[in-house]
Amino acid sequence: MTSPDIAERADALSSRPGAEWWRTAVIYQIYPRSFADSSGDGIGDLPGVTAHLDDLLELGVDALWLSPFQRSPQKDAGYDVADYCDVDPLFGTLADFDEMVQAAHDRGIRIIVDLVPNHSSDQHEWFQAALAAGPGSAERARYLFREGKGEHGELPPNNWESVFGGPAWTRVVEADGAPGQWYLHLFDTSQPDFDWSNEEVREKFRGVLRFWLDRGVDGFRVDVAHGLIKADGLPDYTPPVEADSMGGGEPDVPYWGQPGVHDVYRDWHRILAEYDGDRALCAEAWRPTPDETALWVRPDEMHQAFNFPYLQTEWDAAHLRSVISESIRAFAAVGAPSTWVLSNHDVVRHASRLALTAENPQGHGIGPLSPGKPIAELGLRRARAATAVMLALPGSAYIYQGEELGLPEAIDLPDSARQDPTWFRTGGERYGRDGCRVPLPWSATEPAYGFSPTGAAWLPQPSSWATLAHEVQVQDRASTLWLYRSLLAARRAFGLGDGTLEWLGGYPDDVLAFRNGNVTVIANIGSASIPLPQGDVIAATGPTVDGTLPVDTAVWLVGVQA
Ligand code: NOJ
Repeated sequence: MTSPDIAERADALSSRPGAEWWRTAVIYQIYPRSFADSSGDGIGDLPGVTAHLDDLLELGVDALWLSPFQRSPQKDAGYDVADYCDVDPLFGTLADFDEMVQAAHDRGIRIIVDLVPNHSSDQHEWFQAALAAGPGSAERARYLFREGKGEHGELPPNNWESVFGGPAWTRVVEADGAPGQWYLHLFDTSQPDFDWSNEEVREKFRGVLRFWLDRGVDGFRVDVAHGLIKADGLPDYTPPVEADSMGGGEPDVPYWGQPGVHDVYRDWHRILAEYDGDRALCAEAWRPTPDETALWVRPDEMHQAFNFPYLQTEWDAAHLRSVISESIRAFAAVGAPSTWVLSNHDVVRHASRLALTAENPQGHGIGPLSPGKPIAELGLRRARAATAVMLALPGSAYIYQGEELGLPEAIDLPDSARQDPTWFRTGGERYGRDGCRVPLPWSATEPAYGFSPTGAAWLPQPSSWATLAHEVQVQDRASTLWLYRSLLAARRAFGLGDGTLEWLGGYPDDVLAFRNGNVTVIANIGSASIPLPQGDVIAATGPTVDGTLPVDTAVWLVGVQA
């Protein structure tokens, strides 16, 4: 990329101050520990991100969302924060952060950081103070400490289960050595939940927002944004058997989606509005439908919410048509853009998920003994087609690092390498999420595929990844990397993020066919090739044969007669 190109991109962003960039942006998720390691300790870091910004510019993304890099004992890969306003030495320093932001902004790329307000680490000074101060103290009132049930308080205060498996309560030992109160942790025992009815907690997070806004971040991805407020009295709740652990399928849960949570985001909306440059909030709120997800993006709340109903839709034309239409309608009804996402650090990568041959509940992951292993070639075909559909949709899209290389889920990780708390809390019954978090392959020939100068990698990389390495794909115009580059370039050139979707008739039911502005998109999700209309193919996810579109393939065309 030449410097005038960089300057042009930067100008384009800064000259659109009122354009609300987040309405159409393509946002690339960086999972810092697995992106690029500059220090050689086997864990990715912020200077590693800075070193690859030109690759991301060439990919054509508008913004980066970084999963947590704040100080943390890393019990849940950084989603257990011990200090919200510092960089963990594993990832670098605040100076490294500032340098990364500056270098990204110089290239016209925005930076979104992760904010984890539902819980802290048990190593956070507030939780340590709460343990020391004892029952009834102001320190304990920042978290959800309760007396246990039973004659001697030996039973947890209610029956809630942790998302990672096992009970959501842990009993502490008081200063006198006796078993004492219990504290709530919807996730790992090392992640105590804050009490958001406490004004001190609210004020603390206002300060955290300002700290990062003052450093120039363009927005926040808000972790567990549906979980902060718990129903009064913390009533028992037994999820239905088919429910997924993040509450994606359940309408009425005492710890997910309680109405009071929205006041928190109204407050934050006002704080962001004090800053220049359209800073944005994006909710990680696992809700069952687009309508319920859209409650997080009403005009005075957040700006975006991940579209998990879309992510969770199987490779089926009728279901996809329905969730796409529902999403556009539901988000537009509150004046927000829809978002689209297929992969992230919590779900099985879509190059594997779309070709599973057995049920795989969210959060369980896939490992050596899982039934119904994905069919690799089929998964990649479908993933490329699914991405071509996603990037043609109006609104904002999220890409998870490595999907532009077509990376599959890493299935054969040795048990001894696994680190997800889900694996430990379920005694190995659920593999968890390590398989989508394996460090990226940058080079085919260097140790750790160029992830780290010493060849160290915190999770082992599959040997089959040499051919998927970034440098290999850069040389190959038929690669998945080039597919992403060309889709992103065309999306920008044709203004698809800003466009309007119109479904096209005249195709079989198992084909997705729509128009967005001048671009016609056809994805064959059926079982036989279909004829293509007359027009110029500007992107194809696989070869088209004699004017026909094979199964599990998608094309973008221009010049198709209406
Ligand atoms: C959602 C995050 O994406 C996930 O990785 C984490 O384990 C939980 N929230 C708890 O913070």
